[in-house]
Amino acid sequence: MMKDNIRDLLKEKHGILLAHNYQPPEIQDVADLCGDSLELSVRAAQTDAEVIVFCGVHFMAETAFILSPDKTVLLPRSDAGCPMADMVTPEALKALLKQLPPMPVVTYVNSTAAVKALSTICCTSANAVEVVESLEAEEVLMVPDQNLANYVADRTKTHIHPWEGYCPIHHSLTPKDVQQAKESHPKAVFLAHPECPREILELADVIASTSGMVRYAGASDSDEFIIGTEVGLLYPLQSQNPEKRFYPASERMVCPDMKKISLEDVARSLETFDGEVKVPEDVRLPALKAVQAMIDLAL
Ligand code: 13P
Ligand code: SF4
Repeated sequence: MMKDNIRDLLKEKHGILLAHNYQPPEIQDVADLCGDSLELSVRAAQTDAEVIVFCGVHFMAETAFILSPDKTVLLPRSDAGCPMADMVTPEALKALLKQLPPMPVVTYVNSTAAVKALSTICCTSANAVEVVESLEAEEVLMVPDQNLANYVADRTKTHIHPWEGYCPIHHSLTPKDVQQAKESHPKAVFLAHPECPREILELADVIASTSGMVRYAGASDSDEFIIGTEVGLLYPLQSQNPEKRFYPASERMVCPDMKKISLEDVARSLETFDGEVKVPEDVRLPALKAVQAMIDLAL
């Protein structure tokens, strides 16, 4: 069986398989750890495996390499990217920084290593407010997600300058979608991801990262939940809470990049080391400072 083959290859190559919560069920089932961006980066920094197979998108594998440059980091499909990460380039960021007064740059991990390298500190959806507050700055620039920036702006006194990027999947969720889901499931709790637009977050009962949603649903007394994030999260939610019911806020919330990696891709990558991700040292070191600053906060 393909899954046994992958586990054998992982043993043989001293590898660990990390998967994001949006990955297809068969990938989550074979992984050593599934998690949100923060949990996966912390684990990538801690493992003593020689090979990290990252089932997610390119910026996640890059972050793993930034933290563990002595390891082989594999992204089984090198074309799995994040459209939001590509909405800011180092050149465009440098140009904006020239126009603004000096201020810290808080960069969402959903960004390229070259953009992280120009940043003061990174954040994830699980810790963005606390990261901004830790700086004790009057104003900060948040890159690249305008929705995460607005979410933070509504919860802190710090003045936030948002970059205009967005996740196409979360940004497309409309209040009408949410109203329809609420009408169909009137008893359900509505959970939304901070990458959703402000008008969606205003309708939410709970706002959380993907793993935050899994923890909330497990601990909650409620039996039904409407899930305002990428539909891949329904798999861990449902399998960890078989007695509860989970409904997507919209069936359209599918990230094609998160669905690219197959079990065959994982096996091939482990056999051939095809899809190795590296970052040059002159980019890695400044990017590491920003990622490590976030991890050191231990939020
Ligand atoms: P989290 O799992 O950190 O909430 O991230 C969501 C996401 O969009 C990752 O691409
Ligand atoms: Fe990027 Fe959005 Fe896909 Fe996450 S869900 S990888 S933020 S496009």
